[in-house]
Amino acid sequence: MNQIIELPGRAERAATDASVLLDCRNLSRTFIVGGSLFSKAKELRAVDRVNVSVRRGEVLAIVGESGSGKTTLGRMMLGILPPTSGEMLLDGKPVSGIDRKTLARRIQPIFQDPYSSLNPRKTVAQIIGLPLAVHGIEAGAARDRRVEEIMERVGLSRRLIHSYPNQLSGGQRQRVAIARALVVQPEIVVCDEPTSALDVSVQAQILNLLVDLRNEFNLTYIFISHDLGVVEYIADQLAVMYMGQVVEAGPRHEVLEQRRHPYTQALLGSVLTPDPSLGLPDLQIGRGFPDIMHPPSGCHFHPRCPSAMPVCSAVEPPAFRDSAGLVHCHLFSGEGSSATRPIAQ
Ligand SMILES: Nc1ncnc2c1ncn2[C@@H]1O[C@H](COP(=O)(O)OP(=O)(O)OP(=O)(O)O)[C@@H](O)[C@H]1O
Ligand code: SF4
Ligand SMILES: [Mg+2]
Repeated sequence: MNQIIELPGRAERAATDASVLLDCRNLSRTFIVGGSLFSKAKELRAVDRVNVSVRRGEVLAIVGESGSGKTTLGRMMLGILPPTSGEMLLDGKPVSGIDRKTLARRIQPIFQDPYSSLNPRKTVAQIIGLPLAVHGIEAGAARDRRVEEIMERVGLSRRLIHSYPNQLSGGQRQRVAIARALVVQPEIVVCDEPTSALDVSVQAQILNLLVDLRNEFNLTYIFISHDLGVVEYIADQLAVMYMGQVVEAGPRHEVLEQRRHPYTQALLGSVLTPDPSLGLPDLQIGRGFPDIMHPPSGCHFHPRCPSAMPVCSAVEPPAFRDSAGLVHCHLFSGEGSSATRPIAQ
């Protein structure tokens, strides 16, 4: 997916568009796995030349099956995993030139599992206060006040201030994680499946809280989720990942209504799952997720794609970009094709 068919000047516009807050360009991450006396080490391409950006105050949702590279991309955005290649710009400046501490103050995480992401030996006050101490923000009574203020804002009772994580419910723990992320007033929050480990009854409360906080603090969210119902509710922009690559991206309503990429169609066809906690149900596209150590040739989706053509297994599809977004698929790259032409069902 290294060839991009696009309107002239787009790259230049992205570079100068003041509202683009985080811009990932050709971002890749490989892991070396295996390797012993009896087997050779192999390269696993978890994220492969990803181009996505998010504007200030917007929510970019990243969706895709398990193993598609969402968390790896999120970890690179957080600066806790260096890319193998490509670059990220924060407010137009290369992230590689920003020191780790400054980056951590500007981009904060909220992870899926509040059980394992909170230190069990620290109290709520200590957990939320730690980022303030690390960044040297306030001290003494002023710091305590700040902790209490953010606790109140995320809906945590003050009486919990000296509680330990194991004394809290799942929803309360996730509120602590949200408070810890927001107490340093970041610009971007990377939310990696922030509601999927919670009881269904609590999921909506936490989601609504995240929406309220985003509006109140003009936050920018990178929102990683399996749950397309949640994505539909929260996202401004949507990126669909498959085997480490973004196969379709664009404004949420365009991606959800047009469903140009066959994988997006399959994914959206799976929305009506009876139990969202089960993750993605059978996508009705035959054969499971291919072995990422041996990605299929050409378009990685071709063994499962109902619209596959001979070219698909031979040639990697280029990206086609228009006002509705970006789509990597030969249905949009052939002679005489048009991005607005509907795909035959
Ligand atoms: N540290 C690592 N070492 C080796 N392989 C890794 C590492 N981290 C991730 N991977 C592999 O990279 C691929 C992408 O993983 P990732 O966790 O980013 O996917 P995901 O889309 O977040 O999946 P899920 O929806 O299950 O959370 C997977 O094949 C995974 O096994
Ligand atoms: S490039 Fe071919 S195989 Fe890949 S999604 Fe498009 S039609 Fe399907
Ligand atoms: Mg993940």
